[in-house]
Amino acid sequence: MKRWISLLLTLSLLCGVSACGTSESGKVSETEEEKKIQIGLTFDSFVIERWQRDRDVFVSVAKELGAEVNVQNANGDVEEQKKQIDYFIKKEMDVIVIIAIDPEELRDSVARAKNAGIKVVSYDRLIDDADVDLYISFDNEMVGTLMGEALVEEGLGDGDYVIMLGGSPTDNNVPLVEGAFQKVMEKNKVTILDILHADGWRAEIAASYIYSHIAAVQRADAVMCGNDDLATQVVRALAETRRAGDILVVGQDADLAACQRIVEGTQLMTVYKPVERLATRAAEASVALGRGETLGGEDLTSIESGTYTVPYIALEPISVNRDNIDEVVIGSGFHLKEDVYLNVPDQMPQ
Ligand code: BGC
Repeated sequence: MKRWISLLLTLSLLCGVSACGTSESGKVSETEEEKKIQIGLTFDSFVIERWQRDRDVFVSVAKELGAEVNVQNANGDVEEQKKQIDYFIKKEMDVIVIIAIDPEELRDSVARAKNAGIKVVSYDRLIDDADVDLYISFDNEMVGTLMGEALVEEGLGDGDYVIMLGGSPTDNNVPLVEGAFQKVMEKNKVTILDILHADGWRAEIAASYIYSHIAAVQRADAVMCGNDDLATQVVRALAETRRAGDILVVGQDADLAACQRIVEGTQLMTVYKPVERLATRAAEASVALGRGETLGGEDLTSIESGTYTVPYIALEPISVNRDNIDEVVIGSGFHLKEDVYLNVPDQMPQ
């Protein structure tokens, strides 16, 4: 009994000064340390450069806030991802954070987690028509708009042709990015010659399109790549068919290789998504949900998702080209100047 009274006293004192229990970003106190929030985090895969950064930042911020994170990698296999979610449910995690391979396949898993009283966060990709407690991502429509606008600013317009080599057809972000991109093309009377989707975001599928559709590629003025990893393979294939540099290529993620291509002139632009911000915000929100707090913050909105209204945080992506790469990508510390200019050191800013 005495122990409880002293615990309550300590808690009320701590809460008095640091508003604990209500603050999403409050640092961990010793009392909270005793009952760490358990978070299960399942990734699609780590093949794409950005996801390691997402993981590292999420884990470190969550730890700092007094949580423990169990990270799993589904290696692109949705059955494996289901098993991982079941494992998290069995382990009675407080929160499960999912980078979904295929929302349709995961709706039941989300429902099972929710029935078990576990909070679920849909990270970067929406598990649509599911009762998730938060969907946090970059504005995917804006990603597509920025890609389209970059091409238009470069002169693409009436009478020009673009090929779209998109990502996984089961990734909820893909139609959002592509739909917004297509709108910009339509508005500017650019013809879409062809659309391909790379299953499981496998970049070799995009590359083999270039080799096997020579006539379309000869005709195209631009290639919209679903992300920079696809762009890497596409530009390699274009180089082999002697078209790299004279066909405009856009992507997303600001992968190092893409940033190098931007300064070298074989990729027009990429969309930089500050994943540190996303992972930090997601970790803070996950810990808050785990503690039973109500989410708040100016960036919190909601979206309609099937039969549900889901709390939604959308962060802004940033268009990066030759003109602003030094400021946006290098200036933010996302990549080092020496790495970006590795192959063209004479162009490196002082
Ligand atoms: C993400 C991209 C990423 C892709 C492949 C998408 O859902 O938004 O940033 O490149 O998945 O992992």
